[in-house]
Amino acid sequence: MLEMPAKQWLSDLLGPSVRFDEPMAQHTFFKIGGPADALAEPNDSTQLKAMVQWAVAEKIPYLIIGGGTNLLVADGGIRGLVIRLGPMLSQVHHSIRQQEVRIAAGAGVPTKRLCALALRSGWQGMNFALGIPGTFGGALMMNAGTGLGCMADVIDAVTVMTSGGEQLSLSKGELNFNYRHLRLPAGLGPAAIILQGQVRLALGEQNQLRRQARQLMAERVRRQPIWQPSAGCIFKNPASHMPAGRLIDEAGLKGTAVGDALVSTQHANFIVNRGHATAADVLELTRRIQATVWQRFKIRLEPEVRVVGET
Ligand code: EPU
Repeated sequence: MLEMPAKQWLSDLLGPSVRFDEPMAQHTFFKIGGPADALAEPNDSTQLKAMVQWAVAEKIPYLIIGGGTNLLVADGGIRGLVIRLGPMLSQVHHSIRQQEVRIAAGAGVPTKRLCALALRSGWQGMNFALGIPGTFGGALMMNAGTGLGCMADVIDAVTVMTSGGEQLSLSKGELNFNYRHLRLPAGLGPAAIILQGQVRLALGEQNQLRRQARQLMAERVRRQPIWQPSAGCIFKNPASHMPAGRLIDEAGLKGTAVGDALVSTQHANFIVNRGHATAADVLELTRRIQATVWQRFKIRLEPEVRVVGET
């Protein structure tokens, strides 16, 4: 719990942009999660820097979130500070030189806005991300992707804020992208924050890009339970020829439920919240899926979703 002086400090800095004991279920796509001691939405990078420096000095843990799409917040909620990067980092600029398009976008920009901009402008390279929910910063941190590509394919550089509040630009060579994961250089401190990313695209053929986009979106709607609360794919694919969805499906687990957490009958790598699922329900269902897939195929499924907070 945050002490009174800490709450006062945050209120003085942020006014109505900080809320205390805020149910995280209201801020995640899963619609699950206990209260955060404080949920803060800084209005600019000066406020963000002040908050980070204060939290480090006061030894108050802080967690950065974007759109809350790939997040499972435990039922006991989150101690300390949750910082949501949204509108404050929502600027997009672009420049075109010869056949090359460079976009600089804030971490709070919805990924779908970048996809729409590229599509509208006939820029090639972003269609892989169509339908990925959440913010650009979140997509970068987890190297979000689909069968067609991932963030690492289009990123040139990122700007980060270190735990000390310093802003640095990192080129792609300094970033360690892995499957659904980005590791920032260790020297930046334990909780460095991505503020901005630079994407490199190419001039393309608009009608062709639009046709591809229509196909991809239709495919996604057909295959995935996009209208139900979930955290997207719950497990990483153990290998590209071995998608987790197929393994879970072949293990006969579609429709299996713990409480209101259900293995989607549409796509087996989605756990959906059919009403009042708790994080404990989701975690128990996750364990059962892992155990059954292990028994059946001797393959370990590794969660893709980020689990935070106190059980
Ligand atoms: N499959 C089944 N049963 C199922 C689900 C899938 O047999 O219930 C089979 C499909 O028939 C297909 C194969 O598994 O042959 C792969 O399925 P799909 O094409 O749906 O792709 P995926 O590997 O399950 C990946 C990403 C998705 C992304 C799609 C679209 C991962 C873990 N998942 O899914 O990303 O939307 O490709 O390209 O990489 C996410 O990361 O949250 C996510 C949803």
